[in-house]
Amino acid sequence: MVENDSAVALAPLITEAADALRKARHVCVLTGAGISAESGIPTFRDALTGLWAKFRPEDLATPEAFERDPKFVWDWYEYRRELVRRAEPNAGHRALAELAGRVPKLTLVTQNVDGLHQRAGSTGVLEYHGNILRDRCTAEQVVADRSEDSRHGLPRCAACGALLRPDVVWFGEPIPRGPMIAAAEAAGTCDVFLSIGTSSLVYPAAGLAEAALQRGATVIEVNPGRTELSDAASLVLAGPSGELLPRLLRALA
Ligand code: APR
Repeated sequence: MVENDSAVALAPLITEAADALRKARHVCVLTGAGISAESGIPTFRDALTGLWAKFRPEDLATPEAFERDPKFVWDWYEYRRELVRRAEPNAGHRALAELAGRVPKLTLVTQNVDGLHQRAGSTGVLEYHGNILRDRCTAEQVVADRSEDSRHGLPRCAACGALLRPDVVWFGEPIPRGPMIAAAEAAGTCDVFLSIGTSSLVYPAAGLAEAALQRGATVIEVNPGRTELSDAASLVLAGPSGELLPRLLRALA
């Protein structure tokens, strides 16, 4: 619990945010790696702890890197999959699942590939960057099962034998069509937009808050640090989402 001046300073902002949510007909939520940080999954850009502080994205999260050295990339994804399998949704994920039942309509868009929103009970989650626990066939470009002989080296498609890759969006690749269209629609029609645990640096996801601002929605940022969106946001709740989202839910009651 935030037991200092910021808790006091936050109280009127939490009330204001709850007022906006209480009046909302449609709430659009965008989450990033920060919402899973309290579940033990590292973010990407936090200075010391972030994945990109330790690894080079161009070596691991691009189609070229996979082409160059699929084993190296798979080893890294298996390491991250282990982190995800061991993680549990936190109070922030659970608060969002509950919030969906408290407002007329909520659209949840996540940049996270960890599936923790769904495990917390959220439904209809738009997986903007895919899901790390699924495999995709590199030949048929569909989610696929692993063939038996995947055990001896790189995973192979059970249907056609082609190499499998994680079903995530790498740098330079397009967003899956369904989530992209539905997310743009939600950002363009919502009256409250919650931006939670994202640095708002990576497009097109970062453009969703801008679209909401343009249509006059109330944009609320939840993040312990400043981001590219902070200056433009209607309200900034500065703190960890695992603490502030349950507080927001209580203020809504
Ligand atoms: N609660 C809320 N926010 C937090 C918390 C927390 N407990 N801890 C850290 N944050 C914030 C950080 O301050 C930072 O602004 O989460 C943000 C994480 O930012 P990034 O690491 O850049 O992650 P994200 O915005 O999700 O990255 C976008 O980039 O690398 C690609 O595909 C990857 O989906 C990812 C995309």
